Amino acid sequence: MTTVQIDERLNESGERTLAEDVLDGLTRPFKELPPKHFYDTRGSELFEQICELPEYYPTRTERAILHARAAEIASATGASELVELGAGYATKTRVLLDALRAAETLERYVPVDVSASTVAACAEQLVLEYPGLAVHGLVGDFERHLSHLPPPSGPRLVVFLGGTIGNFLPGARRRFLRHIAGQLGPDDALLLGTDLVKAPAVLEAAYDDAAGVTAEFNKNVLHVLNRELGADFDVDAFDHVAFFDTEHEWIEMRLRSRAHQTVRVEALDLDVHFAAREEMRTEISAKFTPARLTADLEAAGLDAAGFYTDPEDLFAVTLARPAG
Ligand code: SAH
Ligand code: TRP
Repeated sequence: MTTVQIDERLNESGERTLAEDVLDGLTRPFKELPPKHFYDTRGSELFEQICELPEYYPTRTERAILHARAAEIASATGASELVELGAGYATKTRVLLDALRAAETLERYVPVDVSASTVAACAEQLVLEYPGLAVHGLVGDFERHLSHLPPPSGPRLVVFLGGTIGNFLPGARRRFLRHIAGQLGPDDALLLGTDLVKAPAVLEAAYDDAAGVTAEFNKNVLHVLNRELGADFDVDAFDHVAFFDTEHEWIEMRLRSRAHQTVRVEALDLDVHFAAREEMRTEISAKFTPARLTADLEAAGLDAAGFYTDPEDLFAVTLARPAG
């Protein structure tokens, strides 16, 4: 019996490519790089290291919330399959898989990620850990390839953890939630992890750790461009910047050019000029209030059926269902 299946949907003809994203971002007056390109194999490994850092509270806090609530979520959803968007190595997901297995409803796990290496590694590992579990990995962009999800086998729980929803700009975020809501049947549910607004010093430390792992992760995107697009970024000529934007209530990550410099991007036949101290945005990570979360879900046609936080209100996990 085949229990692992991997469906590769990246780079199909007609897709927007890394090259187009980068051309669009680097030719703007305020330069910007699209964040999904952080996660090559090295980037995914660095992100796993970030999750273990003392300053990066979201991962351990979300895991603790899931531990406390997994049985409740399993019985509320009766899910036979778990679809995970931006699954990565699915370390926290095991808490949910355990609870669904204990409830005897679990049949299939469907990880979706742009990183082919993490989908393959996590699929192989999970079929060993969960005998009888079918794993159908989807290597693709969750903004564009959800129509390639396999037909549901029963009640489906879609999970989107780690606060990754915060990496969308607000308009795109609401469009994306609506897009997910459109995929849910009446018996399906969405489990959404969101980081919460808190003291800026706590937030900023989480995105600028003392060991410099986040800085390395941020700069890794330049290695990706050097490799994939024949660019010649001098990675050490850029500094990692992370600050909490109190007006937008998001963490913003940037790379600041140390000096005036010109970077060649061969695949685009493009020379990009950076002024000394010029900053380029690489990522935002929006922080939520319960009110904003409710408003976003409502705009997407979803009702919050459960809202779970930790004792310090650092992070929230919301169970949402199609309204009506
Ligand atoms: N869910 C894990 C990993 C979060 S990191 C956790 O909570 O710790 C974000 C993950 O989303 C990475 O694995 C990255 O490769 C993936 N990702 C980012 N943008 C994506 C996109 N547009 N489509 C699919 N996966 C994406
Ligand atoms: N989804 C994670 C977050 O917003 C991604 C992340 C954590 C990240 N640290 C980062 C992205 C540093 C870029 C740079 O918390």
